Formats: sequence, structure tokens, C-alpha cells
Amino acid sequence: MAETLTAPAKVAVRMTVNGTVYAAEVEPRLLLVHFLRDNLGLTGTHVACDTSQCGSCVVYLNGDSIKSCTLLAVQADGGQVTTIEGLAKEGTYDPVQQGFWEEHGLQCGYCTPGMIMSSHALLQRNPNPTEAEIRHALDGNLCRCTGYQNIVRAVQHAAGQIGGGGSTPQAASASSSQNA
Ligand code: FES
Ligand code: FES
Repeated sequence: MAETLTAPAKVAVRMTVNGTVYAAEVEPRLLLVHFLRDNLGLTGTHVACDTSQCGSCVVYLNGDSIKSCTLLAVQADGGQVTTIEGLAKEGTYDPVQQGFWEEHGLQCGYCTPGMIMSSHALLQRNPNPTEAEIRHALDGNLCRCTGYQNIVRAVQHAAGQIGGGGSTPQAASASSSQNA
């Protein structure tokens, strides 16, 4: 006797992303990162692994930075999401984005949105991090191109811009023995 297969029922979700309210019907298994990229077209949030290790998918959910590949879209129902597209305000880069620009904090750029989001979250809770604190905060973000030094400098540049100060890139360069 043939078995009858039925498609999973869709579930209604509604969330605010970068200040805009979106409502959709999605499969219960849909990951938040795929909802952002495929349903909303916000492709700045990247997927670079399937093991929840790379951090390319980091976004804010209700003020916390999270890996959007580890969460279902339905779990974000009713939430407030900010993606990399939501950081710039009125055409002006966020200081962390500007820092990555000034200090050449990107190479291929695949990891960059997640790096920026995690760095932004760090500076929200600690506007004057040490180099060690920056490296610790970014240990959930992997750059395959290697060369974390410019990423650290970018965060230090941003810290200086937002008033926290931070150690200068030059000082960090001189004191650092860790280049990746
Ligand atoms: S895509 Fe989310 S951690 Fe790699
Ligand atoms: S810039 Fe290429 S993975 Fe980081």
C-alpha cells in the first residue's frame, strides 16, 4: 500500500528586520538565515559552514548577537532583528564598518558581515576593549583568508571613533605576536 506524503504545513511568522515589519508563511524547518537571505533578499548575512562554527551569519535578535544559522525563523517570531544592512544610518557607515574600510579588515569579504556584527556587539558592551578582548570576542568568527591583524585594527579604529579610545593599531601591531 502506497504511503501518502504530505508537505509540512507552513507557519506564520512576523518580525521586524532593520526597522521594517515582515510577515510570511514559512516551513517550520526554515532557518532564520535562509529567511533573511531567501525570503527577504538580505544577502549581506552569509552562510559559510554547516557546523555553526564560522560566524558569517551573525545578526542581532532582540539586542543579542546570535548565529542565525542556529535558529529557526519561527523562533524569531515577534522579534526585532538587525542585519549588516541595518547598521549604516542615512548613508553613513557605522564606525565598525568604517573601521573595516580604513584598516583593510576584509580580504575576500565572506566572513566580513559576521565579523562586523560580532565586533559591533563587543563595542556595545565594552567600548574600550584590549586586543586580547577583541580576539576573544571574535573567536566565534572564522576568516579563511587568515590575517586577523587588520580585523583587530579595524575594531580598534572603531573603538577610537566611538570615544572608547582603544589601543592604537600601531601599538597593537608592535605588541602583537599573533598575526592570525
Ligand atoms: S553559517 Fe552560521 S556559523 Fe557558519
Ligand atoms: S576575508 Fe575571506 S574569509 Fe575572511
